[in-house]
Amino acid sequence: MDLDDEHEFARDAHLPPQATTLWHGRFTGGPSESLLAYTVSLPYDQRMWSDDIAGSCAHVRMLARVGLLDGAERDAILAALDAVGAEMASGSFAFVESDEDIHTAIERRVTEIAGAAGGKLHTARSRNDQVATALRLWCKRELGDVAVRLVEMQEALLDQAIGAGDAYLPGYTHLQRAQPVLLSHHLMAHGWALGRDVSRLVDALRRLDVSPLGAGALAGSSLPIDPVGTARDLGFAKAFDNSLDAVSDRDFVAEAVFDLAMIGIHLSRIGEEWVLWTSGEFGFARLDDGYATGSSMLPQKKNPDIAELARGKSGRLIGNLTGLLSTLKGLPMAYNRDLQEDKEPLFDSVEQVTLAVAALTGMIATATFDTGRMAAAADEESMAATDLAEFLVRGGTPFREAHAIVGAHVQANLAGKGSLADLVRADERLGAEAAELVRPGVGVRMRSSRGGAGPAARDAQIESYRAMLADEIGTLRTLVDPG
Ligand code: ARG
Repeated sequence: MDLDDEHEFARDAHLPPQATTLWHGRFTGGPSESLLAYTVSLPYDQRMWSDDIAGSCAHVRMLARVGLLDGAERDAILAALDAVGAEMASGSFAFVESDEDIHTAIERRVTEIAGAAGGKLHTARSRNDQVATALRLWCKRELGDVAVRLVEMQEALLDQAIGAGDAYLPGYTHLQRAQPVLLSHHLMAHGWALGRDVSRLVDALRRLDVSPLGAGALAGSSLPIDPVGTARDLGFAKAFDNSLDAVSDRDFVAEAVFDLAMIGIHLSRIGEEWVLWTSGEFGFARLDDGYATGSSMLPQKKNPDIAELARGKSGRLIGNLTGLLSTLKGLPMAYNRDLQEDKEPLFDSVEQVTLAVAALTGMIATATFDTGRMAAAADEESMAATDLAEFLVRGGTPFREAHAIVGAHVQANLAGKGSLADLVRADERLGAEAAELVRPGVGVRMRSSRGGAGPAARDAQIESYRAMLADEIGTLRTLVDPG
């Protein structure tokens, strides 16, 4: 590298100052190419175009209400915003090199269309309150959409649970067979976790429902603006109370990215189980062809790629969260350009979770189960050990003693001294009645306590699961714009 190369930056092309930036008044030179290349956010913040336009329309209507725009100016700007919206929707909007972000692009175009009136759009507004407003509107729509999709996944799990009837499989601790559980119980276990995810998203939606518009760059305005009016116009529950907080608060993004990471972790756990269940070793589930992949070399292969990616992509969801929290840490009041780094992790997490939920929902809804293999794995005699101990407890034996008695029979069985059923039958403390507990399919029916893995408890659980779904759907109806 010669010296000239090192000083490449000094030879950057500079754009002319006028007509390139919103702040050119104070500058004699225009921005360098490298500055634009490094600071631009347009490639990813374009997706907020409709939210930016919604925020601008509310701002313009407010400016007219308080007398900062006359009716003609208001109508000219609103018509231009409308025209920009149509260009954006049809894909005909022409971006130019100096469009730094979606906000500058839209304001530039509004001014081109509306002429002099367009110059009043940014009255008593900064991109700092503008971007925070647009991002909150984006979150309200998109997080609501994720929640709706999660409810669909919970419904798919319930449908499969109902279809599974009284099929059972081994329940595991430490991935060692522990006690038989109903397949329906197992499937709904994941559904309850998703229910907490929905409720977390609902909480986040309620907390982020605050309009920052009117906070200006950081301190509000000397002009008679009406933040409460714009908040109401945009459908926010309330307006900000502190302008510094309004423009610098990204808690809502961090919270959303956490909620999405938590969803990703739940999906990853489901993914891991399905990787196991579809393996030759387990053979518990078969994937529909539409939700499995083949191998380019091994003709016999049918691979669970959706489940694997649900597991694999949870890593980046966690990365998005830790990256964002690191960005926010240590930022002084109020807006700092660092905050532009809030968007990519948020957008990526929403996109990835949306794709994952759709693919996993389809995979689960179309899969079939080999209930024979599941039952065979769960019918191992030793799976009844706890039921045998509880049989003794019902007769008054202290549990610790019962545990030791049954443990000794399991040990004898493992040492080849007879089947567990025979050993139990021959023990007068246990006998023929207890030996019945070792028979296939008996154990799972014993788990009748509330929330337990047997049929009676499961039937009650289906009712509470349905109530959870109805509650979620009712809540989302009030929070999510049905359009
Ligand atoms: N693209 C910027 C962001 O996402 C918009 C705000 C820019 N504000 C500023 N003062 N430069 O944060």
